[in-house]
This record gives sequence, structure tokens and C-alpha cells, in this order.
Amino acid sequence: MSEASQNLLLEMRNIDKSFYGLKVLDGVSLDLYAGEVLALLGENGAGKSTLIKILNGDYQRDAGSILINGKLVQISQPRDAEALGIRMIYQEQHYAPELSVTENLLMGHLPSRGLLVDWNAAHQKAREQLKLLKLNIDPTTPMMNLTVVERQIVEVVKTISGNARIIVMDEPTAAFPPHEVALLFESIRALVKQGISIIYISHRLDEIFQIANRATVLRDGKLVGTRRIADIKHSDLVQMMVGHEVTTGTSEASIARKNVDAPPVLQVSGLSKGSLFSDVNLQLAPGEIVGIFGLLGAGHDAIINTIFGETRPDTGTIAVSGKPVSISSPRDARRAGIGLVPADRKVQGLVLDMNVRENITLSNWRELARGGFFQRSTERTHAKRWIDRLGIRMAGGMATNLRFLSGGNQQKVVLARWLEAKVKVLLLNEPTWGVDVGARGDIYTQLEELASQGLAILLVSSDLDEVLSVSHRILTVYKGKLTGEFTRAAASRETLLNAAAGGTS
Ligand SMILES: Nc1ncnc2c1ncn2[C@@H]1O[C@H](COP(=O)(O)OP(=O)(O)OP(=O)(O)O)[C@@H](O)[C@H]1O
Ligand SMILES: [Mg+2]
Repeated sequence: MSEASQNLLLEMRNIDKSFYGLKVLDGVSLDLYAGEVLALLGENGAGKSTLIKILNGDYQRDAGSILINGKLVQISQPRDAEALGIRMIYQEQHYAPELSVTENLLMGHLPSRGLLVDWNAAHQKAREQLKLLKLNIDPTTPMMNLTVVERQIVEVVKTISGNARIIVMDEPTAAFPPHEVALLFESIRALVKQGISIIYISHRLDEIFQIANRATVLRDGKLVGTRRIADIKHSDLVQMMVGHEVTTGTSEASIARKNVDAPPVLQVSGLSKGSLFSDVNLQLAPGEIVGIFGLLGAGHDAIINTIFGETRPDTGTIAVSGKPVSISSPRDARRAGIGLVPADRKVQGLVLDMNVRENITLSNWRELARGGFFQRSTERTHAKRWIDRLGIRMAGGMATNLRFLSGGNQQKVVLARWLEAKVKVLLLNEPTWGVDVGARGDIYTQLEELASQGLAILLVSSDLDEVLSVSHRILTVYKGKLTGEFTRAAASRETLLNAAAGGTS
């Protein structure tokens, strides 16, 4: 598709936006053609979400204009955007888990016969709507039985009813395992065929190359440029985002495992929990980074949550530094020297009303309060160290409340808290969800650095490249059982996927 043959649908012109006197968008412009997928790219805090919140009427711009089909439009609240055919797909999904797909889709306008709901007609209507987006599921299924991806697509189906022309997706796949992304892409292609345009935000660049026609790149609130995807290389796109060349990947030297023969700092034996997982045995040596890879629902999340005491196992023992520990709550786990960076940072990880400094030092207050009074300047030094090392960016310095940080920067703060906490064992669940390409490398460097000082790290990730680049050793999980163990050198995408899909290698 060439732009020449397409109609310019949306123009955002010279948009400015400041928060508390700090400019986060500075003269940003964006064009969207009918029936295209436009990627919106940039590092954490570049201004992507702010720009689309302005488009949706969630935030008010300070200057600039918005045109649809060449006509100036006024968008001062979400309702205005909706009337213009603009739809947002939110990551936090709102649905009734017990109710069927049909009920969720047609809620409020179920077809009726007399006083009764005409269920046959309702399911039929739902089936047709789902089919439009290539989703082959039984609409009588309760929402809670769907996968995350399927639920997200149902969400999209819901929003396209009516006059939808522009659909904005802000990191829709952040919580998807990579192999399920294809399903969403089929739906996106079906939308585009219907003439709908998509603005697509993601930190996974491989997705951009699969789905987008063009990419608009922001850096520090300014427009860097727009390129056709067919004309640009991966590395050039990264360079546009970060402003300099980036080398990714871990050097072979740093993957040599240290302390191989040291006694394990974490030893898990015969751990089982209902139908979630059974007979899990694993151990971590000091300084070792072990990755656990599994497909969605394989039970790897449940394993680390149980080690952290969020749920009690049915059987099994956990020992830290050779001593058996009884862990029945996260508090017990922390006392035993175990920390967890959770996947759902909004719910488990952060205190949104506390500032960046406090969030980083929260787990270390004992040390900071040494001598009977709280050492504010030490606290500041500690926080500053992580802000620098992980490149945490915020408009107002370390006294900024966490809720005002961009998504990726919030994730870095959760990580900083646990890196600061001086634990012996760190459990990480999807540590780089929503983190930009440049910062991802910084995080891996810090993990290696801490491991070289003796920290043992157990990493759960659905990102194969991540597992392959930071782990010394990799375990695969299938249906709640450990199915394989690979050294980093022996592991490849194929062997891991195969073992995680239940295949015997
Ligand atoms: N409501 C707000 N109050 C104060 N500052 C804000 C607010 N919303 C966003 N910011 C600031 O604006 C800047 C841009 O944030 P934005 O959320 O747009 O980034 P982003 O590009 O979406 O990043 P990410 O990839 O991490 O999601 C950040 O410095 C952020 O801290
Ligand atoms: Mg964002």
C-alpha cells in the first residue's frame, strides 16, 4: 500500500504538552492514513502514551491542532473522541469473568423475544462479530476460560461496533507470550481490510516489522521522524529511538557460570500445588542466573509465586543457604532473603502514591534507619544510584509520585527496589515487560553485575531472546512439570520451544 493511493485520515499538528512546567511533548506531529497500521515508537518516557491520551481526550493539549479528513476537530473529552470514531484498547481489561463471551460482547443490547433473551440469536450475533476478527471461539464460553489474547480480541470486537475509524493500541501485547501475538495480528489485518486505521505502540520491534506500514518515532517529547517500514532496518529504527547506536546481547565471557560447585543458595524439593505444578525440584548456586521458560499457563508463574509465599504449596520443601525455611507469606520469604519482582507491577509491585525515591528504598529502610533516625541523604544517594544505572526518567526528579511515571519507568523502579533490597535470591517475573530496547540492556548488565557479586536469580520470562541472553542455565516447564534443563550454550529457540510445548528433545 502506498500513501499516495490512500487518504490522509488523521493529522495531529505541532502538539505541545507540559506537566508542572516540564515539557513532555514539544511540537509533535503525526499523520495517519486510512487503512494503515502506524507504529508509534520511542524510549520509555518519550511521550507516546501522552500523545494518544491527547487524541482520546484524556489529556488536554497546550497547543497544536487535530484534523480528521482535513477538518479541524475539537477533542476535549473521551466522549468527543468516541463520536469521531476513535477507540482505545486498554491493557487493563474490563469484563465480567463469569459471564459468557456473548454476554460480555452484547451486554446492554442482547436480542430479545418478548420478555426473554433470545439466546440463539445472541450467540449467533456474537459468533458473527468474532468471525469478522478471525477469532474462532465458542461464544458461550465464560470470559475467564479464554486466554489473555482471546480476551483482548473480544475487547477489540466490542470497540469496533459503531463508527470506529481509528483504533489505538498502547502496548497491547506486553502481557502476551510471543507465539500468541499472531492471533492479534490476524485481527488487526482484518480490521485494516475493513478500512480501519491502527496506531500501534510496542517495545517489541519484531512486531513492528510484521504488522506496521510506517513508524513514527519520538525522542524526549520531540518528533524524530517517520519512516516506511519497508525502507528501514531494525538497527536504524533503534538508533532513531535512542539517538545513538546500540549494541545488544551478552558477551560470551559474561555467561560463564561462577561458583558452579558452591552449595546452593536456594534449594526447592518436591514442590507441588494442586493442578498448577507438581514435583518441582530446582536449585540455584550463588551468582547463578537461571531462566524458566514455559508457554502461557504452564505453571511457571505459580512456581515462583509459591516460592515467594503468595500461596502455600501442598507438599515440598524450600531451603535457603542450606537451611530449611518455612514460607507461608511474602513476609516470610523476605525474611529468608528472597525477593520477587512481580509481573503485575500495578497490583503487587509499587506504591503509586509514594515518590520514586521512597519506592526504591522501601525494602531497605532498616539499613537506612540505622542509628535510630532516618538518613534522608543516604536514601537519596541510594535512589540516585539506581536512577542512573537503570536510566529511570521522570519529569520532576526523584520526588515525583510514581503514578506520573511512564509505564516502562515504573517497571524500572520495581526492579530498582529489589536490586536495592540486598536479598540472596531474586525471583523475577517478566522483568522487562514494557521496557524499551535501550534500557533492557542496562537491566541485563545490572543483573549480571549483581550475580557476579553472589546474588542468585531465578527468571521467568515469555521472551525467548531474554531467557537466552541472560540465563546461565534454562529450565523448561510444560503442564506444571519441569521438562528440560539446558545450559545456555546448548539452548536454542527451537530446543526451548520444543521442550516447552511438551516435546521430547
Ligand atoms: N499525569 C502526568 N503527570 C506528570 N507527568 C506525567 C503525566 N503523564 C506522563 N507524565 C510524564 O510525561 C513523560 C512522557 O510519559 P509517557 O507516559 O507519555 O511516556 P511513554 O512514551 O508512553 O513511555 P513508556 O514506553 O514507558 O510507556 C514522562 O516523563 C512522564 O513521567
Ligand atoms: Mg506508555
